[in-house]
Amino acid sequence: MNGLSPLSVQEIMASDPAHMPMERAPEWMEGAAYVIDRFVPLDEAAVPITDLGLVRADAVYDVVSVSRGQFFRLADHQARFARSCDRMELSNPFAQAEEAALLNELVARTGLKDAYVWWAVTRGANLPHPSDRLHAERFQNRFYAFVIPYVFIKDDADRQAGIHLHVSKDYIRIPANAIDPRAKNFCSLDLNMSLMEAGAAGAGWSVLTDGNNVLTEAPGSNIFVVRENRIMTPELGCLEGITRLTTLELCAEIGLSIEVGTVTVDDLVTADEAFLTSSAGGILPVSIVNDQPICQGSGPVSTRIHNLYWEKRWAGWHGTPVDYEAVS
Ligand SMILES: Cc1ncc(COP(=O)(O)O)c(C=O)c1O
Repeated sequence: MNGLSPLSVQEIMASDPAHMPMERAPEWMEGAAYVIDRFVPLDEAAVPITDLGLVRADAVYDVVSVSRGQFFRLADHQARFARSCDRMELSNPFAQAEEAALLNELVARTGLKDAYVWWAVTRGANLPHPSDRLHAERFQNRFYAFVIPYVFIKDDADRQAGIHLHVSKDYIRIPANAIDPRAKNFCSLDLNMSLMEAGAAGAGWSVLTDGNNVLTEAPGSNIFVVRENRIMTPELGCLEGITRLTTLELCAEIGLSIEVGTVTVDDLVTADEAFLTSSAGGILPVSIVNDQPICQGSGPVSTRIHNLYWEKRWAGWHGTPVDYEAVS
């Protein structure tokens, strides 16, 4: 294992033959989508303008990644998506096996070996009588999905240097008793606005608290703090990230003691190391918090987990091979 610095994952994806896409018609290689009831090239995908997913952010979604031609923890993502639907009284028109086949077909149509796979169920069109809105079962919920080349929140150089993280002062994460963050949903203006605040402060990403100095999560990612041989991550106010779950498994495997509980801003600014976790890029080391360095580049624990994450994935851990012949 490379213990010195994070693997250059993007460079490997761009150069290793195991990551080369399958040959496909050019209109599909840019991306593929499924819109309500049909497959279309990404370029042709459009959402009906009155869909309540668009008009009222009334929708849940999930994202699973594919690398080296394998879905990572597909069943875990599908199970989380089913919980998101239940929590928001949305009904998925597809059963789990149909959904898996549909996502597989989308990836197969693009031929991509490294892909970002997004899917959602929206409330659907509004109903003619406002009083119908009192009844979830009267809506015709809709399914949308797309596949594009794999997305990294930050690039190889940023993961090696560690990013500058800004703890938002202007925004807090929507409280769990307003919108349950365990349901992966469309309401993300708190997260998005905090990114612009971080940009204005000269930082590279943001993290939000609950308003009482307790960390919750970051845009598109969960947060971990490392202190001596202990690793901490927030228990509440955040999505149950699949990369977070994976990181907890990796920490147990390498013998780090784990604390899932209350993590404060003070824990973060005085940490030995910190990192974010996301399906969009895996482990993202942090080297600066609010203008103060916490470690030099990617810390040793962050680097170890970063590299294990990719090495194990590429060796097939929690993987489901994409069936590239499944293009109908
Ligand atoms: C708000 C939020 N928190 C955490 C995560 C990380 O979850 P996962 O590791 O399943 O990608 C995401 C992913 O997009 C997210 O949107």
